[in-house]
Amino acid sequence: MPELIAPPVKETTEVHYPKVLKPLLDPIIENFLQYSPGKLVELVKQHGSPLNLVWPHAFEANAQALQSVLKKHDVDYAIFYGAKANKSQCLLAAAASSGIGTDVSSLFELQAALRAGTTAQHLCATGPAKTTAFHQALVQGGSLICVDSREEFSQLKALFDTTPTTAKARVLLRYRPTSCPASRFGMGADDMFQCLQWLTESRESLHFEGFHFHLGGYGYETRVQAFREVTGFFDAAREMGLDPVMIDIGGGLPMRYVDPQEYDSFLQNDNNPGHYQNRRVPNSFYPYGSSLTACQWLDLFLESEHSPGKTIAGYLKSQHIKLALEPGRSLVDQAAITVFRVTRTKQLADNKFVIFAEGSSFSACETWFSSEYLVDPVLITSKDSRQVPMQAYIAGHSCLDDDVITHRLINFETTPQTGDLLIYANTAGYQMDLLENEFHRHPLPRRLTATCCTEGNYAFTPDY
Ligand SMILES: Cc1ncc(COP(=O)(O)O)c(C=O)c1O
Repeated sequence: MPELIAPPVKETTEVHYPKVLKPLLDPIIENFLQYSPGKLVELVKQHGSPLNLVWPHAFEANAQALQSVLKKHDVDYAIFYGAKANKSQCLLAAAASSGIGTDVSSLFELQAALRAGTTAQHLCATGPAKTTAFHQALVQGGSLICVDSREEFSQLKALFDTTPTTAKARVLLRYRPTSCPASRFGMGADDMFQCLQWLTESRESLHFEGFHFHLGGYGYETRVQAFREVTGFFDAAREMGLDPVMIDIGGGLPMRYVDPQEYDSFLQNDNNPGHYQNRRVPNSFYPYGSSLTACQWLDLFLESEHSPGKTIAGYLKSQHIKLALEPGRSLVDQAAITVFRVTRTKQLADNKFVIFAEGSSFSACETWFSSEYLVDPVLITSKDSRQVPMQAYIAGHSCLDDDVITHRLINFETTPQTGDLLIYANTAGYQMDLLENEFHRHPLPRRLTATCCTEGNYAFTPDY
């Protein structure tokens, strides 16, 4: 049989990077966009728009980087991937293959994590409203349960009266740090002491392993303060004859989407009402140009003072305490891109344009965080497109006025045409699928796992 040799594919597409809020790109993804843009056009033809490509190698690199920081400080640790950040199954599998656990907040996340290969003992369950079925599965599998309230404690305890089991519930108590007294999550001092007391009386059914907290915001300093507060309870628990071994500081490690200096320059120079089609500057943004990476954040946390002359790392080691973390967003840094096909570019008043993307703004948004999606898209056009500069905002395909991906007016050096692609980089952290839906009966966006094969070659498989 003669060997069939395919002729080299001539790229008929061109890649245009934005000048402002240019996304930081993982080198493998950058290489893919640069040298195989035609492949993206083909994938969107095959799977529809929007299309999410998920890159587990990026997750594995992030997990490894955090592990290196913890190893450098020689502390005992456990990392639980905050599975709520993304619905991808291959990212759960990346957590399992990276040797880390998963933080699950529902029975369904638990089942997905088990399916991905994480053992039940490496799961940690957070969330304030766990159902009885979720509790049962957690107890049976030997997963950690972060008890959020006295009420949850009683409900968990009651399980043992109704369903005899030989397994014990492994329990962390969730503390409500003094920096957030009005939060509905966790317990204040009185409730913590009550639960500790109950734990001393329930040793046959509940195994107490330590404390947990999670804070909003991205400062490591607030975690240092909360950590110091928790260590007071740690001492009290030991005095009560309990044997805690873990402090879990939750998630909230920052990640960086754009260069910090470029981000500052954007905030100072390109962020006035005139830069937005609705003439409204959002009140707050996710810190897209974070001055710290997740690893630097963790380093600073561990080096911070716990007590006079003792760092947090030093305290953990001297007390034989395991530090647990639940990073969500920062572990999926660079782990997905979202691709929209352009349906139409339409001229509006004042020589402004709107670009309609095929799909809704819920596939690339910070809506939940009351913010604007602040990374500009990479544009892929046909090679024959004429360079006609223009300014446009980007809307989804629905009839809702608020279905807008970017209210900001973006400068394009080449006018996007029907069939061109807009690539949103780094959408894995809550942005690509948290709010996705089938509005207008448009099918849910497909998710493909992108695997790097030989250099410059990639395989794309359904991500279930
Ligand atoms: C209890 C808990 N742990 C971890 C996380 C993950 O946070 P992040 O994605 O900011 O790292 C969250 C997020 O809401 C959370 O509520």
